[in-house]
Amino acid sequence: MYLTKEQEKMVDGEKGEVLERMFRLLVRLGDIYGADKMIPIGSVQVAGVSFKSIGNPGLNFLEDYAKKGAKVKVLTYLNPAGMDMEDWKELRFPKDFAEKQIRVMNAFGEMGIVVTSTCTPYLAGNLPRFGEHIAWSESSAVSFSNSVIGARTNREGGPSALAAALCGVTPNYGLHLDENRRPHVIIKVNAKLKSNSDFGALGYFVGKQVKNKIPYFEGIKEANTDQLKALGAAMAASGAVALYHANKITPEASLMSTRGLEIIDVEDEELKETYDKLNTGDRPDIVILGCPHASLREISSLADKLKGKQLKRPIWICTSRMMKEAANRMGFTKIIEKAGGKIVADTCMVVSPIADMGYKTTGVNSGKAANYLPGFCKQKVVFNNLDELVKGQLI
Ligand code: F3S
Repeated sequence: MYLTKEQEKMVDGEKGEVLERMFRLLVRLGDIYGADKMIPIGSVQVAGVSFKSIGNPGLNFLEDYAKKGAKVKVLTYLNPAGMDMEDWKELRFPKDFAEKQIRVMNAFGEMGIVVTSTCTPYLAGNLPRFGEHIAWSESSAVSFSNSVIGARTNREGGPSALAAALCGVTPNYGLHLDENRRPHVIIKVNAKLKSNSDFGALGYFVGKQVKNKIPYFEGIKEANTDQLKALGAAMAASGAVALYHANKITPEASLMSTRGLEIIDVEDEELKETYDKLNTGDRPDIVILGCPHASLREISSLADKLKGKQLKRPIWICTSRMMKEAANRMGFTKIIEKAGGKIVADTCMVVSPIADMGYKTTGVNSGKAANYLPGFCKQKVVFNNLDELVKGQLI
C-alpha cells in the first residue's frame, strides 16, 4: 500500500506509541482487503461505547489511551452508551454500572470525541455530504449514510473506527470504491407500506434474503427519512446490508444499472409472515421506541398520541441528547412525561441492561430491535406499529 512520508513516520513510531499501534491496525486492515492507499475522512462514529459491551478490558484500554494523550483528528461521535448519562438514577440504572459508564465517557471525552452518544449522528450535528469518505461503525448509521446520503463508509469495528479517528484516514477499499457500490439484486416491493414498522418488517425480510448483497428497491412509492432509517437498520441487522438503493428515492439509484439482476418479489404476505415471526410475546412490560434513535418527527408523533392520556405501563423513546433538547423546547418532553412516558437520551434498549431492570417483554416498532432483543437482552418481543403499541399501554 502506498504511504505518504507522514504516514510512514506513524508506522515507524516517530509519532508516538498510540499512533503507531493505531496506524498499523489500519495498514493491516488495508492489506487484508487490498487497499491501494489511505484516504482522508470527514468524520468518524465509534461503536463499543456501552460498558455492557466493552466491559473492564475495554474501559482499561480507553483510559490507557486517554492517559497517553491520544487525540482525534476529525469530528468523532459515539454510538449509544449503556444508560442515559443524566437521568440514569431516575431510570433505575444500577449504580456500579453507571460509574463504569461515566469513566468510559470521560476517557472518550479526553480524546476530543464529542461525548454525545447516538446511532443517528446525521440528525445530531454530524452530517456528511454526498460522496464524502467517512469511517462509521454502527450498522444502521452506516446504512443510512451510504444509502440515503450517498456518503461512503465501510462498516467499521470499534477499534478500526477509533484508529481512523486518531489517524484521520481510512484504507481505500470496499464501499469507498465506485465498483463496489453497484446493486446485486432487485427487490420488487408490491406490499403496501404504511407505518414505520412496515419498513422495519420489509428490511428484516430483505436482509434475511440478501445477506450482505446490495439490494435495489423498486416499487417503494414514498418514504420519509425515518422510514428509510428503519428499513436500513433492519436490513443491516437481519442480514449485513451496508448499502441499498431505492429507485427515485436514494441519490445513487439513478446512476446504477440493474440489467440482468435477480428479482425478489415482496408481497403483503411476506410482510405478514415477518410480523408473525418477530412477535414472540403477548403483552409488553414496557414499550421502547427509537431504534434507530428517534428523530424530532417521531418524538412529536408520540407526544401527539399521548397528549392528555395516561399510561398504565411505561413507554420510552430513545434519542440523542440534541433531539431531547429540541423536544424539551417544543414541549414534547412535558407531554410525554405527564402521561407517564420518558424520553431517554444517550442509550438504547439493546445496549442498556433492561433485563437486569426487571423487564421481560418489550414492545417495539423497529425490525432491528425485534431482531436483537431476544438474544442480547433476553426479551420476548411485541413487534407492531406505533398506534397499536401506544394503545396497548394506555389506561
Ligand atoms: Fe441504535 Fe440501539 Fe437500535 S444503537 S439502531 S437504538 S439497537
